[in-house]
Amino acid sequence: MEIKVRRIRNPKELPDDSQLGFGRIFTDHMFNMDYTRQKGWHNPRVEGYRAISMDPATMVLHYGQTIFEGLKAYRTDKGKIQLFRPDRNVARLNRSAKVVCIPEIDEAFVLEAITRLVQVEQKWVPSAPETSLYIRPTVVAMDPYLGVRPSDTYRFFIILSPVGAYYPEGFNPVKIWVTDQYVRAVRGGLGEAKTAANYAASLYGAEVAKKAGYTQVLWLDAIERRYIEEVGTMNILFVINGELITPPLNGSILPGITRDSVLTLARHWGIPVAERAIAIDEIITAHKNGALQEVFGSGTAAVISPVSHLAWKGDVITVGTGGVGPLAQKFYQAITDIQYGRTEDPFGWVVPVE
Ligand code: COI
Repeated sequence: MEIKVRRIRNPKELPDDSQLGFGRIFTDHMFNMDYTRQKGWHNPRVEGYRAISMDPATMVLHYGQTIFEGLKAYRTDKGKIQLFRPDRNVARLNRSAKVVCIPEIDEAFVLEAITRLVQVEQKWVPSAPETSLYIRPTVVAMDPYLGVRPSDTYRFFIILSPVGAYYPEGFNPVKIWVTDQYVRAVRGGLGEAKTAANYAASLYGAEVAKKAGYTQVLWLDAIERRYIEEVGTMNILFVINGELITPPLNGSILPGITRDSVLTLARHWGIPVAERAIAIDEIITAHKNGALQEVFGSGTAAVISPVSHLAWKGDVITVGTGGVGPLAQKFYQAITDIQYGRTEDPFGWVVPVE
């Protein structure tokens, strides 16, 4: 399929790179493509960024049949633009699609659409330190129908947003509230898909945590409410006695690309790695014994987010010295160095946008 490009006449003024937050500013153009049963995916186009007009009965608004992805384009010191492991995002988009009965999209074509849009918007890729152009591919169910079933029509769109740090804390450690009262996802449900419902499910708990003075929630499993799953919207990793431990991808955890990058780097560096179930009691015991060295989240938006405090059952524990741990720092540095082209890319993770 050929992607039609219709450039707009009146581009916006570019924002100041040093003032970027996360996800509030959008570029001049977007990618759009439609799906019907008869035509399949068709009419791919890059056109002016604009509102999507929807019938109030549109299915996505009622039943949340939608999926999305999040990846970034980085500007290197030499002014070039590159993507980080975009094939992984595109593959995950299709895995998420399956979970919520959305028709798959050809992966090579999605990659082409992302690349084409970033090429058109290249001047929007910021160059201030730690900034990037966040890419948000999204599919929404478009049938105007109130019966509960998968939609017959869809819109696939991609929007772009120049971003800085995700958390106002930046790379500084965050305080986390552990809850067994609220749950994010359950095995057999939607937890491993990047779909709106998982983020909706996280809102109430996160608000309760914020009111108590914490940045985010540490989610436990929905059945026994003991085993650690995720932190906020990120995967979570622990360093205990020099071993890097993270929960396995058991069906209710999002298979994070940054998570995979951290594990790959750790193995490459010879750090012992375990993907295994880890109970909150084990963390508390490890802390009591002086074995808990580091806790950090991993995700595309924040890359690595060190955890300084964990609040659980009325106690608050301080992780390590309460600062940024050496491994969190090392992973952050190594991953961002590859993303921004400051170092060699031994794993073939970087894809240049020519
Ligand atoms: C991430 O990239 O860590 C996320 O999942 C956050 C995103 C939903 C804004």
